[in-house]
Amino acid sequence: MRDDLAPLFTEFSCGPLTLSNRFVMSPMTRQFSPDGEPGDDVAAYYTRRAMAKVGLIITEGVGVDHRSSIGHGSMSEENIPMLHGDAALAGWRRVVDSVHRAGGKIIPQLWHMGGLRREGTPPHPGAKSMRPNDMSEVEIADIISAFVRSAVNSKATGFDGIALHGGHGYLIDSFLWAETNMRGDAYGGDILRRTRFATELVKAIRAEVGPDFPILFRISQWKLQDYDAKLAETSEELGVIVEALASAGVDIFDVSTRVFSLPAFSGSDMGLAGWVRKLSGKPTMTVGGIGFDKELAASFAQPTHAIDNLSEVVRRFGGEEFDLVALGRALLMDPAWVVKAQAGKPFEPFDITAYSRLD
Ligand SMILES: Cc1cc2nc3c(=O)[nH]c(=O)nc-3n(C[C@H](O)[C@H](O)[C@H](O)COP(=O)(O)O)c2cc1C
Repeated sequence: MRDDLAPLFTEFSCGPLTLSNRFVMSPMTRQFSPDGEPGDDVAAYYTRRAMAKVGLIITEGVGVDHRSSIGHGSMSEENIPMLHGDAALAGWRRVVDSVHRAGGKIIPQLWHMGGLRREGTPPHPGAKSMRPNDMSEVEIADIISAFVRSAVNSKATGFDGIALHGGHGYLIDSFLWAETNMRGDAYGGDILRRTRFATELVKAIRAEVGPDFPILFRISQWKLQDYDAKLAETSEELGVIVEALASAGVDIFDVSTRVFSLPAFSGSDMGLAGWVRKLSGKPTMTVGGIGFDKELAASFAQPTHAIDNLSEVVRRFGGEEFDLVALGRALLMDPAWVVKAQAGKPFEPFDITAYSRLD
């Protein structure tokens, strides 16, 4: 038993959601849901993590109820699950019930790929890909309604909350980022106006799901189009975005970085999750590079090794930079990673073939 990790094995509560520890499974696209319907293999995959002390599971990105939400993106993303239609919802109910029986908590990540969806790709090749610059107000309203429907379906299915994918250059983020939002109306312009799509979306969801259903929001500086992108050049700019989102109804920020321990702005050692926590007054989750010596993109191309960098996680947790600690690749490759960490056992070696398996 590693005593130094004890702070990470304490309860966390947010409204009605109580987690038994601070470890979270980060959302990871898996492509194992033909026709958008998760099956028993998906239920078993998440349940294995719930049984091995993962405090909260955030599912893979799930397409919202709009024809433009998903397609092929940077890779050929196929068999992505959806959150509408009787069969998909029945599949999710089996996933949720199974995770709950194992003592876990689970929330879906609601996803709209925006302009990163390649035009003409399935499941709806005829649908237009959505980019802020050429979206009408009717299209904006339609997409907000699609998110609301999927959020309501999530609640009805028994999920413990929802997570909005507001990062990585996808639709919500493309409104936030100056490079992809050149609108001249109320949804574009200065940073507060560029936040309007996201805040309208959060408010619309909150109005339907009620006050006691946790809403997480993933935010990132980096984009799939540009790893060095900056959503906010300064902490003041970041403050404008996260304060507006917190007032709109976000309960927890999922702060996606490539390396959790890198300082976010010059003049301070604090990571991005720490800044978001300080500026928004909301709990945050850190992620990026925990358990490995290379960040995600580099690990596709360069030899990567499992490491134990939890002492830095504990140090920053003690400094109140974040409340939750998310693991992506570590939990993809080893469902029992959290249990091993707690017991002080060595981690499994990095294994890139895990990306294409569901075990
Ligand atoms: C196979 C794979 C699929 C991913 N899919 C998603 C996704 O659907 N949504 C998302 O927000 N992030 C996605 N990510 C990013 C992870 O959630 C996480 O932020 C990233 O892997 C960094 O964490 P890590 O260093 O612990 O792996 C994915 C990562 C991997 C490895």
